[in-house]
Amino acid sequence: MSKFTTASFIKSKQEGHIISMLTAYDYSTAKLLDEAGVDSILVGDSLGMVVLGYENTLQVTVDDIIHHAKAVSRGAKKALVIADMPFLSYHISIEDTIKNAGRMIQEANAHAVKLEGGKEVIDKVTALVKAQIPVVGHLGLTPQSVNMMGGFKVQGKEEGQAREIIEDAKLLQEAGAFAIVLECVPEELAKIITENLEIPTIGIGAGKYCDGQVLVTQDMLGMFSDFTPKFVKKYCDIGGNIKEAVALFCEEIQKGSFPEKKHTFSIDAEIIKKLY
Ligand code: KIV
Ligand code: NA
Repeated sequence: MSKFTTASFIKSKQEGHIISMLTAYDYSTAKLLDEAGVDSILVGDSLGMVVLGYENTLQVTVDDIIHHAKAVSRGAKKALVIADMPFLSYHISIEDTIKNAGRMIQEANAHAVKLEGGKEVIDKVTALVKAQIPVVGHLGLTPQSVNMMGGFKVQGKEEGQAREIIEDAKLLQEAGAFAIVLECVPEELAKIITENLEIPTIGIGAGKYCDGQVLVTQDMLGMFSDFTPKFVKKYCDIGGNIKEAVALFCEEIQKGSFPEKKHTFSIDAEIIKKLY
């Protein structure tokens, strides 16, 4: 399999290949996802919740994302690596936005950045694309706006809001975004948006009509239990496996059944005699 690129995103939509995207925050997970054949790896600011233990994404910094994106880039050989632009990293000025996004590419070796919002970020998206930094948009439930939205809620259920999301998606495409994440929007609205665009939509809690699907890896592997949204499917119970393995380790060292001879290094008996 060759490298998945931004061009592969558009091609996938045209050819009906559903784009797979999962999050990763470290080298070994990125390597596993990459070897399993995922098209794209997102170093999401969900990092704040699932790795750093914050209650939302607002405390995540550019340095946090860069630190983790560096590790992910080393593990991803084929997948396209997207780094999330955290809260306040693209809200102040165009200059600031390009500098922060540029660090994701230059220091962390990411291939693209993702940022949240519609018309209010169009000038930033335009400037990033002009600076040769590929951009993924993010509409619907945008977690960095949690305090403005008054909680994590499905977006676009009312006509006005639905029209706004459709309009924002078109604006992002015109500004040069190469894909758009749609989070927690009704399935039929995601379908309309998907049909309206030439660039692919990547859904999370947005139903089956999107051009791709993304999940937080810790959620789909059953490793994160603080909060599980309705849209998550747990594909396995790694959390349960980890707890079982850890309990067994604790038990075995008490019983003396670990470590065994095969886990142990030896030394010449003559030398040992001299050491006593
Ligand atoms: O931060 C993240 O993991 C995301 C995905 C949920 C799309 O933005
Ligand atoms: Na995010």
